[in-house]
Amino acid sequence: MKILMVCLGNICRSPLAEGILRHKIEIEGLDWTIDSAGTAAYHIGNPPDARSIAIAKQHQVDISRQRARQIKTADLDDFDLILTMDHSNYRNVLSLVKEESQRKKIKLMMDFALDHSIEEVPDPYWDDDGFQKVYQMLDTATEGILAVYTPSSS
Ligand code: 4NP
Repeated sequence: MKILMVCLGNICRSPLAEGILRHKIEIEGLDWTIDSAGTAAYHIGNPPDARSIAIAKQHQVDISRQRARQIKTADLDDFDLILTMDHSNYRNVLSLVKEESQRKKIKLMMDFALDHSIEEVPDPYWDDDGFQKVYQMLDTATEGILAVYTPSSS
């Protein structure tokens, strides 16, 4: 599996999603590729937000070496699954689609959570208290990804 996590800035949510899922697949011994990108160019080359690094570290997940990049059209061919954090990210990625095979790869991250009533991972950038909630949501959704794509582990 090759999975790309996508948010707006690629400094808060998608680096956490990348780090959490990578941590889990390493434990499972899976040879998957996990990456992340932003739809916007604001933070290209920057490390994740210090609050994302801190909440990840609390859970023994090191995301400090990640660097932000912007999603590109080729990503829609290179990855099997493109997981967007909210509806705005979803629409922005959809606008890059050139063919139907690419469109099918784009989903909302929370599609993989057991509680389907929550569709979006909220942007925590302006909310210091939001990072804990975002971590828990991504932890749940990444469990769902493993359950779907490695049925024997669930
Ligand atoms: P992210 O959060 O999309 O989860 O990385 C944001 C980061 C930066 C900004 C907005 C959202 N910003 O406006 O700079």
